[in-house]
Amino acid sequence: MMISGKAKVCGIMAYPVEHSLSPMMHNFYAGQMGIDFAYVPFKVLEQSVGEAVRGAYVLNLAGMNVTVPHKQRVIPYLKELDEAAEAIGAVNTLVRVEGGYKGYNTDAPGLLRTMTEAGMEIEGRDCLLIGAGGAAKAAAFLLGSQGAASVIVLNRNPKRAGKLSEEMNRRFGRAFMTAMALADYGKVPDRPYLAVQTTSVGMDPDTGHAPVEDRGFYRNIPWAMEIIYTPAKTRFMSLVEEAGGRAVNGLDMLLYQGIEAFELWNPGRKVPEAVVSQAREMMRKELEK
Ligand code: ATR
Repeated sequence: MMISGKAKVCGIMAYPVEHSLSPMMHNFYAGQMGIDFAYVPFKVLEQSVGEAVRGAYVLNLAGMNVTVPHKQRVIPYLKELDEAAEAIGAVNTLVRVEGGYKGYNTDAPGLLRTMTEAGMEIEGRDCLLIGAGGAAKAAAFLLGSQGAASVIVLNRNPKRAGKLSEEMNRRFGRAFMTAMALADYGKVPDRPYLAVQTTSVGMDPDTGHAPVEDRGFYRNIPWAMEIIYTPAKTRFMSLVEEAGGRAVNGLDMLLYQGIEAFELWNPGRKVPEAVVSQAREMMRKELEK
């Protein structure tokens, strides 16, 4: 695929950026779809985020991905903020608008697409949200906006869980979220839950752990969404499956948050299913390296 003088240029700003799979993925979509588009990595220091956003604008970039550690820090430099990004308090995608960039968060839509495809319905469900950090916030917003009946936030630090649930209850105007200390998992009322695991527990290289080790806990989890994608099957997922439930890992969330960004930069274009499947395989292979 040739890049012409008219190419739409996007990129990712991160620090470090060297390990990002995004350049490979986005250039693959453009190539497969015949779009005149280029996507490049930008290594940006934390203190230079504002300059980088202004620089991107004057260089006429159509958009950017923003990742660790800039997802919050970038917000003051944006012209507009999408509702999900505002609620989550983090931005991972910039889209060029008049005079600057609009900030989006495609983690929640990426997670929704993953769960929908896996047949995990949120509306009317009782949910468990494990963790209360950045990833949990995106999941909490999604569960609230998709009409979860109730959400129990379980976190090692219960104060953080309390803060997250108060914030979401206020935002959605209904008291659907409650907080509990992770250590009190035994007090979770006995009924089936849709669980979303957002902590880093069990992530490579520390794969021997799950946020809760007690097998009894998993009897109430017929459906589980794991945010971690390395390893492909975490101990949390194995415990869910051993108790008879179904668990999905975070690979598709990673894939779809990128596709959502690509589709924001190329309005009216949908990445075809065959390309999505190829991309998933590419990503899986890269992560195995
Ligand atoms: P992220 O943006 O990836 O969510 P984060 O904001 O640092 O990262 O949040 C990490 C989450 O993993 C938090 O919920 C954290 O619990 P605390 O708020 O109590 O710190 C959770 N976490 C990390 N290590 C943990 C561990 N060993 N046991 C239980 N929870 C852990």
